[in-house]
Amino acid sequence: MDRLPVGHAFASDTEVMNYALSLARRGLGYVEPNPPVGAVLVDAERRLIADGWHTRYGEPHAEVHAISAAGDRATGAQLFVTLEPCCHFGKTPPCADAVIRAGIQQVHVGCLDPAPHVSGGGIQRLKEAGLTVSVGLCGSQAEALIAPFRKLMLTNRPWVHVKWAMTLDGRIATRTGHSKWISGEESRAEVHRLRGRMDAILTGAGTLRADDPQLTARPPGPRVPVRIIVDRDGSSLSLQHALVRTLDEAPVILCVRETPDDYHRVRLEEAGVEVLAFIGDSRSGQIHRLLEELGRRKQTHVLVEAGAGLMGTLFDAALVDEVHAFVAPKMIGGTDAMPPVGGLGLAEIPAAASLTNRTVRFFGEDVLISGHVKRG
Ligand SMILES: NC(=O)c1ccc[n+]([C@@H]2O[C@H](COP(=O)([O-])OP(=O)(O)OC[C@H]3O[C@@H](n4cnc5c(N)ncnc54)[C@H](OP(=O)(O)O)[C@@H]3O)[C@@H](O)[C@H]2O)c1
Repeated sequence: MDRLPVGHAFASDTEVMNYALSLARRGLGYVEPNPPVGAVLVDAERRLIADGWHTRYGEPHAEVHAISAAGDRATGAQLFVTLEPCCHFGKTPPCADAVIRAGIQQVHVGCLDPAPHVSGGGIQRLKEAGLTVSVGLCGSQAEALIAPFRKLMLTNRPWVHVKWAMTLDGRIATRTGHSKWISGEESRAEVHRLRGRMDAILTGAGTLRADDPQLTARPPGPRVPVRIIVDRDGSSLSLQHALVRTLDEAPVILCVRETPDDYHRVRLEEAGVEVLAFIGDSRSGQIHRLLEELGRRKQTHVLVEAGAGLMGTLFDAALVDEVHAFVAPKMIGGTDAMPPVGGLGLAEIPAAASLTNRTVRFFGEDVLISGHVKRG
């Protein structure tokens, strides 16, 4: 949604909060590991006074941007904020105090902050100061927006996105393994935008062997994601691969579950590749340990761009949080042509995973279906 001019009259409270949510989304990729937040100040007739969003990690929060843009006009205003104002000193002073000092009368909050040291505390502080506070306006959208932050905060693990491009008849490659290109240019540009707001991009040894991908965001986005190869023993990655040749653009991690050849490992490490070895783990154990490690590094968003092998491990172990499936109007057939997800799969349809917070968008001729995974 475009930025609205001061004085714009909103028709309802829901419309104001939807605008605040759209502002919050502008922070995606810039604010992590903080949550994206948007704030809007309106007068009694719901006319826009000022707005703001959390623009970058370590910088002022959304409420503070809106309040300072409003100046004296914040007195007596209503604040719509997608997430509960904080009540603690972090990188910046508590926003709840700034809201009180500004003379705001009424606060509409999208959802509570899941951080144990905040949850409910910001609301309480506002109520104690005599402000009228309501929680839950556009609550499910507000919750969905901070779901990755919530997951990292509560489980110390990143939010796992998976992306694939498939034909209308459900294949991600032909029977010979050829997959360039199933989706069109517009879709591929969207994938690069998605990559540019991730902390890590993950692929499997099969995709490395078939496609020799770079897995960089082109053009670059707000973040430079680390590129991670999941392999059995590391023998699939060589110094000649595009990932290694582009090490000056973004780091590379090789994740193995069997001891790699010493000479090979040293050569990769000397070239700048980090090797993470989870020796003796199963396929799913290897991914669990990798996600734990990425969580320890405060990574919020991981994107998997792999073939059916790695996707199968992820779905069988219920490790996927969000799907981005591009569907191209092409048909290639072939019993041996690969589907997006392999692994063991499910025995019964009622157990199927489905999508919530679904969106359907067109990119050229392709359709992108995205959503959060709801386990059956
Ligand atoms: N259209 C698209 O969106 C798209 C995207 C990516 C790839 N592709 C296509 O997919 C094909 C490759 O598919 P793929 O299934 O071979 O590749 P993959 O999923 O990228 O990699 C699977 C390989 O990774 C290894 N691996 C190591 N640890 C693993 C773990 N923990 N879990 C799962 N696998 C692990 C497996 O070997 P071990 O058996 O030794 O574990 C297996 O050889 C290519 O044709 C490529 O072009 C298409």
